[in-house]
Order: sequence, then structure tokens, then C-alpha cells
Amino acid sequence: MTRLGVCYYPEHWDRSVWRDDAKRMADLGLSLVRLGEFAWSLIEPGPGQMAWDWLDESIGILADENLEIMLGTPTATPPKWLIDKHDDILAWDRDGRVRGFGSRRHYCFSSETYQSHSQRITDAMANRYGAHPAVTMWQTDNEFGCHDTVRSYSPMAAKAFRAWLETKYTDVHALNIAWGNIFWSQTYQAFDQIELPNLTTTEANPTHWLDFYRFSSDQVVRFHRQQADIIRQHAPLSKITHNAMGHFFDFDHFEFGRHVDVLTWDSYPLGFLSQSRSSDAHKHAYLRQGDPDFAGFHHDLYRSCAPAFAVIEQQPGPVNWAPDNPAPLPGMVGTWLMETLAHGGEFASVFRWRQAPFAQEQNHAGMLRPDDQPAAAFCEVAELKSILPQLTDAKAPASVALLFDYESLWMSEIQPQGTGWNYQDIAESWYRAVRRLGLDIDIVAPGAPLTDYQLVLVPSLFHVSDEASAAFEATDAQLLFGPRSGSKDVNGNIPPDLGPDKLRPLIPLTVARSESVPAFETPKVTGPTGTGAWHAWRDDVVTELAPILSDEHGRAVLFHHERTQMFAALPDDNLINSVVETLAEKLSLKSGSLPDGLRLRRGCGHRFAFNYSTKEQTIPTGLAPADGLYKAGNATLAPGSFAMWVDQ
Ligand code: GAL
Repeated sequence: MTRLGVCYYPEHWDRSVWRDDAKRMADLGLSLVRLGEFAWSLIEPGPGQMAWDWLDESIGILADENLEIMLGTPTATPPKWLIDKHDDILAWDRDGRVRGFGSRRHYCFSSETYQSHSQRITDAMANRYGAHPAVTMWQTDNEFGCHDTVRSYSPMAAKAFRAWLETKYTDVHALNIAWGNIFWSQTYQAFDQIELPNLTTTEANPTHWLDFYRFSSDQVVRFHRQQADIIRQHAPLSKITHNAMGHFFDFDHFEFGRHVDVLTWDSYPLGFLSQSRSSDAHKHAYLRQGDPDFAGFHHDLYRSCAPAFAVIEQQPGPVNWAPDNPAPLPGMVGTWLMETLAHGGEFASVFRWRQAPFAQEQNHAGMLRPDDQPAAAFCEVAELKSILPQLTDAKAPASVALLFDYESLWMSEIQPQGTGWNYQDIAESWYRAVRRLGLDIDIVAPGAPLTDYQLVLVPSLFHVSDEASAAFEATDAQLLFGPRSGSKDVNGNIPPDLGPDKLRPLIPLTVARSESVPAFETPKVTGPTGTGAWHAWRDDVVTELAPILSDEHGRAVLFHHERTQMFAALPDDNLINSVVETLAEKLSLKSGSLPDGLRLRRGCGHRFAFNYSTKEQTIPTGLAPADGLYKAGNATLAPGSFAMWVDQ
């Protein structure tokens, strides 16, 4: 069974080391090697001049060691000669400037020229290696959207956007109604009058933006599918993947995931913590471990986007691209890898085999140092070799779901209506409220079946579709909604009966008015259901229900009706923690509050504990097994370590 892998760039090294590299990978217990995803200029050094010898040889050497290969299509890096021939490949930025050659991802998803070259190179690669027995997986491109590349403002994007709008609305009058173009005299007479929403004098119409976000997301899916269809023709038995990113929501991964077999992602816990909006105190506490919920959140999200998920790039040491680039605690790389498997990942793979001594990523660690000596990650992977055979394929169902909605994130980014509203932060805070209780959680799409859960958290769902509404009505779970849920129709406009629109059958109330407040306004909330404060957002609600929580000024904060609870104000971390804890206790779900930085997870026939703290932490009594049952670690975990015991 494939469990651990590595990203490898044979083209960076002299052929004389390739055989030794492959042997060392196999000896280490790795079973999957990813390669090829940036190698276009070597595969095709000039128009139509294909040079396969190096790739044939490299694949052959890896196959000789029984390593499975994941081959990447090289379309994240179109070569210079191709750009020189066709400058209509390049994307334009929001300020209307061409994003030139010289790094990577220099293309526009809407360039028909590029689409045809991407299909051409994919066809050539899949034709050559599709039947190779060692090539068991294919990755399309690399990190769609990295470096802010989902949304391009090129003439090709404008043309494709107009065609997308025409398909969606058929009649430009319908578009005018949906967007509310009577406002500011924006009415169009024909689709070909419509420009992209950048470069306007002041804010463009929000539905114009929303449709542009949706269009751009669809263009990514379309570009991927063009390659995937070709790969499937040549390699019908291979799995197809693409590597998604962390903290990245510019395209809808639920929709995208329908077109892969495995949705892989790239996990850089320290880089992302450094880049995040977290407080300095939080960044300090988790400097060398990462936020304890960063990886878990993405594992749980991507697991429900596709038939399977995996980590294809695991941070191996200091990276090069974050504001600061600390080294992980000893043991942390092994802990991150095991956490992926515990969350149900098909495999976990380290980026990269050997640190490059040249170019943009020369300060990015690998499993080997540039001088070929083992780096920390090499030794930590070696330590996992004896543990892996004990893992089974058993999946453990979660009793809690969190509903995540890309469109709510987009709508709130387009019209935030307050500096303190950040959909991603809110979703992560609600996720943390569950994980700190030691509970497993699934992150699901709006409309996904909810009947298997006992508790469903909806941090915010701006537009409630008929499918989402039916799923809420069909479950017996306790439902907890955040503010702004049901505040928009499908076009991002206010619904005729106001919020919460289609949620009203679940809870009889109407949001009459909403306010946003700056960060210094944090009214306290104290009550039997929860304690903390609200911040950023509050709704004035008309209802006959009495609130079950109010703030220190007597303003309603939380309502309850039958199995639905709905916030009328945005809870801070303390408040959401205590409300979720109360609900979990009521449902007898709560397994105990965990010490700082400790997280639990069931999977692979085992239970796991992961210590993200810089202190030793002990698994609370009642959650830990008897001493003799541990397969790795024990009840007291060293900083950065994990423990594992059989799930009975
Ligand atoms: C990822 C990317 C890799 C490499 C890595 C460095 O975003 O997919 O190619 O650049 O970051 O951390």
C-alpha cells in the first residue's frame, strides 16, 4: 500500500546520482515519487522537438526500485519559446498589466492558444507514459491559482466571460435584472458591451464581481478537465489528481473535486502560520509546529471534495517564501505526515527530495541537504518505516459536520460591509471549537447529506439553496448557524422576505437590520449556554422567540427553536468554544477538553494524539488507553510528537 512519497526533480541533478537516489528512496520506505511537473523546456526544448530520453531513463530507474510514479503535466511552466511565439498566453493583472515570463504560472486560463498547447503537451506525455506500469498517477499542472492566478483580466478572459454570461443568462435583460443594473444606470443592451469588473472608477456591481469569480472558478475546472480527459484516454487505469493549496479559496474545490480521483494538497504549516493574520502571541506559541488546526482543517475539507485526498507536498524544514521561515521542532515533520494518514489521507509525500543549491527555492529545505547529506526530514521519515505496516484502511465516521461554502466566502470578500468579517477566519474558529474537544469532524458542501451527523455547524451560509435547505430539513442533527446565513439570494442580493430566507421554517425570525463594528467593540456575553463576547457583526432580529443569550447591554445574541440555534451576532473564539461545548455535552459527544495544542483523531484502525505544543502534554484520563496498548508514544507526549493506539 502506498503511504509515503517524495517530490523529485531528476532534471536538477546529474544523471550519475539518479540510481543512488532511487535506491535510497526505496530503502527509506518511500513508495511514491512525483516528477515532471515543471519540466516542459526539457521535454520540448523547441517547437515540436520532443526530448524524452532523460524522462524515459529517470522513470525506468525509479521503476527498477519498484517505486510508483506520479507524473505531472508541465503546464505551470510554459517555455520561453512558446511565450515568444504567442503573447496571448499571458495573464493580465487587476491593474491591467501583462504578467510576464520569468517565474511560473505565466498563463491565462482563458487563452485558447494556451488551452490548445496544454492539451498538446498533455497528449504527448500521456501517449508516451500512459501505459507504463510504474506510472500509476497523473497530476495536472501545479497548484492552480498559486501566485494569484485564478482571476485574469486579459482580453481573452473578457471574451470568455461574455460567452459564459451569455450561456448563463441567454437574454441580456435577465442579466440586467439579476445584477440590478438599473442602479447607477448600468443597463446593458448586449453581452458584448460587458467589460471585466476591474479598472472601474469606484466599486463595480457586486453581482458582476460574483459572476466573474464564478466564471474564473469554472475556467480552472475546465482547463483541468481538458487535460484529465486526454489522460483518461491514454491511461484509463491511472488515478488523476491535482495539488490544491492551503488557505486558498479562489476556485470551488467541491466542484473541482468531482473531476479528480484524489484531491491532493500542499501542506506548509509553518509558512502559512507566518503568513496568517494570527496574533503575534499565537504565532509565537506555534512558531515551529504550526497552528494545531491548519492541517486538520484542510484534510477534512479536501477529504469531502473528492473520492480520496492526500498530501503531496509536506513541508520538510524551513521554506523560502513566507515572511519568516523557522525550522520545525524535531519530530514535527513525522507528526505532520502521520496526521495526514490519521485523517484518512491515501498517502503523504514530502516536498522535496534534495534541496536545490540554485534558483528561487535554494533556501527551501529538502529531505537531503544540497551536499547530499540527510536533513532532519530524512531521519524523521526513516522513523515511520516500522509504524506504517500497522495501519489499516479503516475509516472512522465523524458525528460533527461543518458546512463550508465557497460562495459565502466570495460574497463576503466582494461586499465585506465591515473590517472584522473574514469568512475563512470564522470557519476556522468554529472548526477549532470542535477539535479542541477531541472530536472528529467532516467539512461538507452546502446540500451534502447531513443525516449521519448529530451536530452540524454552519459558520455562515449567505445563500441557502433549495438543496441546502432540504438537507437541513432532512437531518435530526442539532443545527448551529452563524449570522448572515440566508442573507442573500442566488445573485447575492437581499431576498424579498429578508434573512434568514429559506431557513425561516427552521427558526421563525427576521433580520430587520445589520450592523458591523470595529475591532475595539467587543460586548460581553454571559449565560448558561455560553460565555465570551461578540465582535464585528450584529443583526437586529424581529421574532417572538426569547434569546437564549444576550450581551451586556441586553441585545440578543443567540436564538433557539426546536433543533436549530442561530446567532444574531458573530461570536468570538471564547463564545463559540463554549456554545459548541454546551451543545456537545447535551448530545453526549464531548470527549473532554484537550490541553493546549493537543489534538486527537481516529483513523487507519487506530486513535492518534498529536502534540502541537512546545510543552509536554498528557492525554486526559478517560481518553487515553491503558499503558500497554500504545503502538507509538504514550500518554505523555513530548513537544512535536504523536502517540498511536489501537481503536477498540
Ligand atoms: C508549492 C509548490 C512547489 C514549491 C513549494 C515550495 O507551493 O507547489 O512547486 O514551490 O511550494 O514550498
